[in-house]
Amino acid sequence: MARVALVTGGSRGIGAAISQALKEAGYSVAANYAGNDEAAAKFKAETGIAVYKWDVSDFAACAAGVAQVEKDLGPIDVLVNNAGITRDGFFHKLKLEQWQAVINTNLNSLFNMCRPVIEGMRERGFGRIVCISSINGQKGQAGQTNYSAAKAGELGFIKALAQENASKGITVNAICPGYIGTEMVRAVPQEVLEKRILPLIPAGRLGEPEEIARCVAFLAADGSGFITGSTLSANGGQYMI
Ligand code: CAA
Repeated sequence: MARVALVTGGSRGIGAAISQALKEAGYSVAANYAGNDEAAAKFKAETGIAVYKWDVSDFAACAAGVAQVEKDLGPIDVLVNNAGITRDGFFHKLKLEQWQAVINTNLNSLFNMCRPVIEGMRERGFGRIVCISSINGQKGQAGQTNYSAAKAGELGFIKALAQENASKGITVNAICPGYIGTEMVRAVPQEVLEKRILPLIPAGRLGEPEEIARCVAFLAADGSGFITGSTLSANGGQYMI
């Protein structure tokens, strides 16, 4: 039986590349998405990957979504917490809604998604949880107090959860992508991107979603069982820690 992988935000951007890489590696994949029905339908038609709609910031919706995926595909062996949003703005102008939206979707989602799967993983003695954090959780980024706080929070979360579950065959790791050529990064004003971000990347280019997907496939593999609580950076040399 193929192992089952669930990828949140799995029908677009980095998440779509992750879903596809896991499918190619032989997993039975479920791709969660929040709102863009059109993109999800297109992704499903092109890849044959099952798509499931729910909001990762809603605990009850996550519990129901996980139950549905498990009913359809079987127990979840691999959970990739990839769904995330930006609501950039300097802190002195930031609105409460911008703060709450990012914390709810990027950080509270870790509780919402991991809590419904962790007991089953512990009972079965196997699990792989991979969280897509960010370079901006490691170094901070002007204009992103909300996002940097959530992404740094993920790094503490994975270390604590890794310690609790290492003896149960479950690994919990984070990947910190740098600036990847997705819609999220392309939403940054062109001038900011060209003058303030690209010159800081030694590789001289944005990353590709597939370069992050490779990292996920590596950490998700059965043979990666001794790697837990770790943070894998993939940022073209922009930040070394
Ligand atoms: N550091 C310090 N100062 C900065 C700055 C920076 N990185 N960027 C801009 N400033 C300065 C500007 O020079 C300007 O100064 P002056 O008023 O003295 O000229 C001032 O801050 C205002 O800048 P903006 O005109 O850009 O202000 P704005 O209010 O229009 O926009 C912003 C602010 C929305 C935060 C915009 O600067 C921005 O989008 N910055 C990029 C933030 C970023 O990197 N986001 C990453 C998104 S991708 C992602 O998150 C994925 C991932 O994981 C990597």
